[in-house]
Amino acid sequence: METVVSGIRSTGNLHLGNYYGAIQNFIKMQQEYNCYFFIADLHSLTTHPTPANLHGNVKQVLIEYLAAGIDPEKATIYIQSDVPEVAELYLYLNMNAYLGELERSTSFKDKVRAHPDNVNAGLLTYPVLMAADILIHKAVKVPVGKDQEQHLEMARTFGNRFNRLYNHEYFPEPYAFNYSQNLVKIPGLDGKGKMGKSEGEGNAVFLSDTPEAIRKKVMRAVTDSGPTGDNQAKPQEIQNLFDLMNVVSAADTLAHFDDLYNKCQIRYGDMKKQLAEDMIVATAPIRERIKDIANDAPYLRQVARHGAAKARESASRTIREVREIIGFRKF
Ligand code: TRP
Repeated sequence: METVVSGIRSTGNLHLGNYYGAIQNFIKMQQEYNCYFFIADLHSLTTHPTPANLHGNVKQVLIEYLAAGIDPEKATIYIQSDVPEVAELYLYLNMNAYLGELERSTSFKDKVRAHPDNVNAGLLTYPVLMAADILIHKAVKVPVGKDQEQHLEMARTFGNRFNRLYNHEYFPEPYAFNYSQNLVKIPGLDGKGKMGKSEGEGNAVFLSDTPEAIRKKVMRAVTDSGPTGDNQAKPQEIQNLFDLMNVVSAADTLAHFDDLYNKCQIRYGDMKKQLAEDMIVATAPIRERIKDIANDAPYLRQVARHGAAKARESASRTIREVREIIGFRKF
């Protein structure tokens, strides 16, 4: 079985975009591959969370991933900081990561621009830590979004450079992975682009939102004054509502509102009401499980311990071999 790794930054609650865009991929992959899904808490240190926030964020992501259907019996789910071998590999890879290439990374440049007062070395070497995450399990497939392509290219560069330096075909090349037919775009509610946390209050529907919160957000979604002629093309904010309906509603519901739109008889209020109810139904099982799991400290502890043990088994094998290749010898 091929090995898959993906990391999830611990930055709070998951929304429908995360669920339909990424998690559904993970759930499918866990049936077919040897999967490692981890919570990237070491990466979150670049922005200096308080101790209480650090733990709370990790816990929330763990709860929501389990509630969404990532299965600890099928995939290895672990917390990055529970596997110190990752930090050791990061150190070795840092010796062959060059300042120039790290400074040229798009995500580094974006962060320097956004936070010029916090340009720490951890930020600069973020792609090296990410490469260590992937190479520690010798993964070949990495389910991530388009924004991570450059980081994956750097992971291949660092792995290949290690192989060349020690003249040893050790690390395989990891590539971004997607079930292409599943590339669903989940728009937000603000009439613009994709659903996201940083796009402002009300744009994203969270898996943990109450039904009332979902109704409120959806009823406030941006619309226009309605079509003026039959079979008009839909402006983006309207297409967004149809795209959302396409993922949460039944096919005939979607067809019904499409028909009304084409006949200029659509009432957006009715459509939003239906959309909100279908979102509530679609997310109900996850919402219930979030509540159950959040209160089940023994289960969370067991999952985290079991995941850490499995991840360390694979990671310590790699570190043992890497030390050997580099030339560390016991006296
Ligand atoms: N950089 C990724 C993101 O921002 C998170 C991440 C860290 C990751 N390490 C990884 C993703 C390893 C895949 C594999 O989303």
